Amino acid sequence: MASIPAGPSALVLFGMTGDLSRRKLLPALYDLTQRGLLPPGFPVVGFAREGGTEFVRIAREAVRAHARTPFREEVWARFAAGLRFVEGEFGDDTAYELLRKELDALPGTAGNMAFYLSVPPRFFPLVVERLTRHGLAGHGPAGPHGGGWRRAVVEKPFGHDLASARELEAVLDRAFAPDQVFRIDHYLGKETVQNLLAFRFANALFEPVWNRSYVDHVQITMAEDIGIGDRAGYYEGVGAARDVLQNHLLQLLALTAMDEPASFAAGAIAAEKAKVLRSVRLPRDLARGAVRGQYTDGRAGGRPAAGFLREPGVGPRSRTDTYAAVRLEIDSRRWAGVPFYLRTGKRLARRVTEIAVAFQEAPSTPFAAASTRRLGPNTVVFRVQPDEGVSVRLGSKVPGSAMEIRDVTMDFAYGDSFEESSPEAYERLILDVLLGDPLLFPRAEEVELSWRILDPVERHWAADPAAPAPYPAGGWGPAEADELLAREGRRWRRP
Ligand code: BG6
Repeated sequence: MASIPAGPSALVLFGMTGDLSRRKLLPALYDLTQRGLLPPGFPVVGFAREGGTEFVRIAREAVRAHARTPFREEVWARFAAGLRFVEGEFGDDTAYELLRKELDALPGTAGNMAFYLSVPPRFFPLVVERLTRHGLAGHGPAGPHGGGWRRAVVEKPFGHDLASARELEAVLDRAFAPDQVFRIDHYLGKETVQNLLAFRFANALFEPVWNRSYVDHVQITMAEDIGIGDRAGYYEGVGAARDVLQNHLLQLLALTAMDEPASFAAGAIAAEKAKVLRSVRLPRDLARGAVRGQYTDGRAGGRPAAGFLREPGVGPRSRTDTYAAVRLEIDSRRWAGVPFYLRTGKRLARRVTEIAVAFQEAPSTPFAAASTRRLGPNTVVFRVQPDEGVSVRLGSKVPGSAMEIRDVTMDFAYGDSFEESSPEAYERLILDVLLGDPLLFPRAEEVELSWRILDPVERHWAADPAAPAPYPAGGWGPAEADELLAREGRRWRRP
């Protein structure tokens, strides 16, 4: 990973003992230490309601279980030397006083501090307010506390609809200037997602056909084989559309469909993405153009798997969607009339995220119909994960005396072309926060525009007396989602 190391600074991790911190944030910080991208002795100050005596052990276990780079005692010792912990409730003034003293006493931070809010959203306003009260937030790059920079990092969900997202923004706005707020959509930290822009705008080959004259439709899929596990507390009442479609999938759509930015500057890219999101049109008839589903008993990993309603913490009559699919169009010269089909779900047949751009058939062909019977549409597929890469599907003559044309695949796989391994998304994003690089973080405007797209769908579902369409765990989602495409003579891919 060719990267610039972070300068003097500290990271305060609210919710350090929580799930995200253990699975992603602490391991990413260790990996950054291993790669030499954090300053020596980089302070990570945990703040959580409990775990005061245990935090070093918790962090060590998290790193051992989830870091990408090998566990080495010597690297761990370097990382652990910077670990600190403040125990307290998120509203406890004494704990914030302690935090401030702890931060004051840290050597080598130049007063630069990032506050990572890895806490349930209902605590955002409280934490932000307390940071302000104790002189730790501050508008403008030179905060009141030592003159260094202050940054707030917030994790989704950014609200559960447009109105609540705006309230959350107002809270952040009171304490931080827009360029101090970093909203995490970890999909933007994935190499393969960043490569979308390189692929589209660094090559001459694809951009001329990236439009309604040549593209038949686009399918964006984020399928997971896992169920909700022990996350019912978060997931119940949120559902697949709010959890994934509102953020990850709409960001992928924006990157796939956007026009060339004037430069690679964050503002220029954000402006193009916002233009796409603003031009998205929902189907007029949402009963036909959007599908929600819920997994029932089935199989996962070769074993029987319980349906959603039998998962721990889920109410017996829950109507939470674990699958969501929607047909969108983009009202622009480039895309008018081209359907973008988005789908996501838990407990599907396999874990795969991809963007497939399917092209129209060749307008004429000299071949007899029998020769092209096994020829599908040309398709460019961005394989976001796993098997990261890009493939192009096209027709080729089958060797032999008959003229038979069949689909073949031209493939680019990261593993074959690059020796460098891709950093984990969170590594890249945490480093960018410390470097102050806003490129990979959605702006408030994008979050709002995405809620504008999803809100009518959620309202439609909330008013619909029908339960989410059932689908067996281990399948490819409800039949209703297949019908959504079948009505238009298309089929979902089975990646
Ligand atoms: C998160 C969602 O944003 O993304 C989870 O809240 C989901 O429900 C996760 O499992 C998937 O991330 P990844 O990187 O494994 O595809």
